[in-house]
Amino acid sequence: MSIRRLPDSLINRIAAGEVVERPASALKELVENAIDAGAASILVTLAAGGIDRIEVADDGCGMMPDELRLAIERHATSKLANDDLDAIATLGFRGEALPSIASVARLTLESRAAGGAGWRLALDHGERTEDGPAGIPPGTRVVVEDLFGKVPARRKFLRSGRAELAASVDVVRRLAMARPDIGFTLIHEGRRQIAVQAGQDIATRVAMLLGPELADNGIVVDCDREGLRLGGIAGLPTFNRGVADHQFLFVNGRPVKDRLLVGALRAAYQDMLARDRHPVAALFLDVPADFVDVNVHPAKTEVRFRDPGMVRGLIVGGLRAALDTAGHRSVQRPSAAALGAWRAEPLPPQHQAQYQVWDRPQGFSAPAQSYAPPPQARAEPAHAPPPEAHSYPLGVARGQVKGTYIVAEAEDGLVIVDQHAAHERLVLERMRRAMAEGGVARQALLLPEVVDIDEAACDRLEARAAELAEFGLELERFGPAAMLVRATPAMLGQGDVTGLVTDLADELAAYDQALSLKERLDHVAATMACHGSVRAGRVLSVAEMNALLREMEVTPHSGQCNHGRPTWVKLDHADIEKLFGRK
Ligand SMILES: Nc1ncnc2c1ncn2[C@@H]1O[C@H](COP(=O)(O)OP(=O)(O)O)[C@@H](O)[C@H]1O
Ligand SMILES: [Mg+2]
Repeated sequence: MSIRRLPDSLINRIAAGEVVERPASALKELVENAIDAGAASILVTLAAGGIDRIEVADDGCGMMPDELRLAIERHATSKLANDDLDAIATLGFRGEALPSIASVARLTLESRAAGGAGWRLALDHGERTEDGPAGIPPGTRVVVEDLFGKVPARRKFLRSGRAELAASVDVVRRLAMARPDIGFTLIHEGRRQIAVQAGQDIATRVAMLLGPELADNGIVVDCDREGLRLGGIAGLPTFNRGVADHQFLFVNGRPVKDRLLVGALRAAYQDMLARDRHPVAALFLDVPADFVDVNVHPAKTEVRFRDPGMVRGLIVGGLRAALDTAGHRSVQRPSAAALGAWRAEPLPPQHQAQYQVWDRPQGFSAPAQSYAPPPQARAEPAHAPPPEAHSYPLGVARGQVKGTYIVAEAEDGLVIVDQHAAHERLVLERMRRAMAEGGVARQALLLPEVVDIDEAACDRLEARAAELAEFGLELERFGPAAMLVRATPAMLGQGDVTGLVTDLADELAAYDQALSLKERLDHVAATMACHGSVRAGRVLSVAEMNALLREMEVTPHSGQCNHGRPTWVKLDHADIEKLFGRK
């Protein structure tokens, strides 16, 4: 075996393996270069999702002809003037993007600096094919064609043009969000995918790039701690998504996909979202340059913090505080699709007589029918709204539908509350308060209850018995595969003890190792709350309904259930008028 130095062409292709994974990653490097060059506006043009052609044109500082030749040399950069890796103020600094791209594609660079000549340099998979003057405007234009044309092993792994385009749009969107002072345009096959003007403020830029929904359904975050600052917009928990790619995270203006940050974001929403739902957010973290190391990943999308715990604390604490201010807010208006479903449908004549407002005391049950059951609903007499309706955001209860939904009249519209979801949330918040005040009151069972579950589950419950006791659940081991329950949380009432203990064992199995104590306790509380809340289908008195509404109004996070679904929606007067064609 003989050791040898690799030729530059091979070194560059090896580097390209890390830096240029697909068209979007080449594009990311080129747009970052344009930003670093001080461009005021950047135009991206793509063909076939960038597989056939990527063009990035900027009006930045440009390069002199000899700089142009240096730019394609490995480890040549203008961005580490003081050799100081701890004070990086640019997106690039490694000096390897251009030579890497040049080694796996056809690359054309055209550039003109102030006071210099316009110049064109072209390479075909690392071989120079052109080097001469060109009549061009100030700035730089880079064209990448036929990416991986001579690297079939890589080309094979490219996805469809559509998937590659989506990745490129994502890259430009993230960079554009980080720099609202710069204008960005992205055109694919003649169609404009992104167009934002220079000089926007951050809120406008986020809304332009993500649509107005986040601004309408989000909370402004703005906090700092010991020199670290967190700003941006966090979506209400009810404004969640099935995938995590609606999370836009930035550190010192650099888009990142960092595990620590993603984990902190997840933790902040922990008990407000189901496991398979993800929050939406655009968050900007600004820290002193020496607090963060950006040189940990060739594509520079991960970072390392000097004090990760402090960053996590700032994010979880800052988001929690912001979400606390949302109170009972949720995504309140039904979606356009849901509204559209409220069509007026002509009723078959034989059913019409059944549609009336039942003015009966509670407990009414529909008479038995041989055909489809009539709608179950009951309502208070339709008097004028009581004066206090004006002072209650969630209004005054008017009735209950399907034993599940409370219908209330508020000053500005009709409120519909999912009683189980709302009550579950209230019990959770009550439980949290009780925990903060020293523990949940317990209620001894007259007869201790034996719950049969498997041995592993018993082990887990036994290991956590002290924590569970704080929640008012007193249990002990009862033989190899059973637990004996002596007391349950008083606020849950007499419920299904077996169901509660079994669910808790499942929770512990799923989460025990992965979570901190506090997160684990939150899960226990949520599981208990689910068991202690008013079931859907239970008939409530008007007084009970109003009590629930009033408690929701003063309880933090009551706008969403523990799984991130809204606990209430409102049809405001304008929506109702639309339904009847009055608007
Ligand atoms: N669009 C551009 N405008 C002006 N200069 C550029 C541009 N793109 C690249 N350069 C110059 O080429 C150098 C090498 O670029 P690159 O290989 O991406 O490495 P890095 O960005 O890490 O320095 C940069 O440091 C910069 O001086
Ligand atoms: Mg670069």
